[in-house]
Amino acid sequence: MLDKVAASWKATVLTLHPDMFPGSLGLSLAGRALEKGTWELEKVDIRDFADDKHRTVDAIPFGGGAGLVMRPDVVDAALNSVADNGSPVIYLSPRGRLLDQDLVKKLAAGPGVTLLCGRYEGIDQRVLEAREVIEVSVGDYILSGGEPAALILMDAVIRLLPGVMGNRESADEESFELGLLEYPLYTRPAEWQGRKVPEVLTSGHHEKIKQWRQEQAEEITRERRPDLWAEYLVKRNDTKLGR
Ligand SMILES: C[S@@+](CC[C@H](N)C(=O)[O-])C[C@H]1O[C@@H](n2cnc3c(N)ncnc32)[C@H](O)[C@@H]1O
Repeated sequence: MLDKVAASWKATVLTLHPDMFPGSLGLSLAGRALEKGTWELEKVDIRDFADDKHRTVDAIPFGGGAGLVMRPDVVDAALNSVADNGSPVIYLSPRGRLLDQDLVKKLAAGPGVTLLCGRYEGIDQRVLEAREVIEVSVGDYILSGGEPAALILMDAVIRLLPGVMGNRESADEESFELGLLEYPLYTRPAEWQGRKVPEVLTSGHHEKIKQWRQEQAEEITRERRPDLWAEYLVKRNDTKLGR
């Protein structure tokens, strides 16, 4: 295809459920970008690396307890099959550092990512240590597997890849970009069920609109996310002091 460009960002996903990919990322913006070759997907079925006739990937935990644990030798063999292009290896895990926009931006700027999706109770600790795997969580709740978490991470990164979003400005003004949550959005009709759009937005006065949006973003962040608000105040202070 003429519009195919050299793939610049590669997601390699190690999973027991390869059919879950690309999933939602085969549609819309990410799907078009995948077709164009802006990003590339490699799926590795961890079960292919089991070495017994039952293709066993898990075993009961040493020390007892509920559930099963994914074996280190099988996961290691699956990781060995992935060509090293300098991408970080990330294990999606509720114990990991929380995924945030800073990490998403860092990953979008790199060559790609290798994503290890856990199932059962998780993965044997030794292979995580031996392979210097980074653990990343998508939130303080438990999913039944790492696959939906991998899709979330990939979605957030892929939309930042060059050419994926039509209008780059919309990314620059989104929540978290400037340390604040986004201001409220309005579109037509100007009056809906007796509710009017704030007057300033229809004034055509760009400076006033900018100021209103800034004030709204600050108020929403202060009310809803005291953690982000505190960080924002520190950054704003540092900027004022030229640090
Ligand atoms: C049922 S969970 C295992 C939970 C684990 N026993 C614990 O208590 O932390 C199975 C797999 O889902 C994935 N997973 C679950 N919750 C997640 C989250 N919040 N973020 C990222 N991955 C998650 C991980 O890959 C995990 O190995």
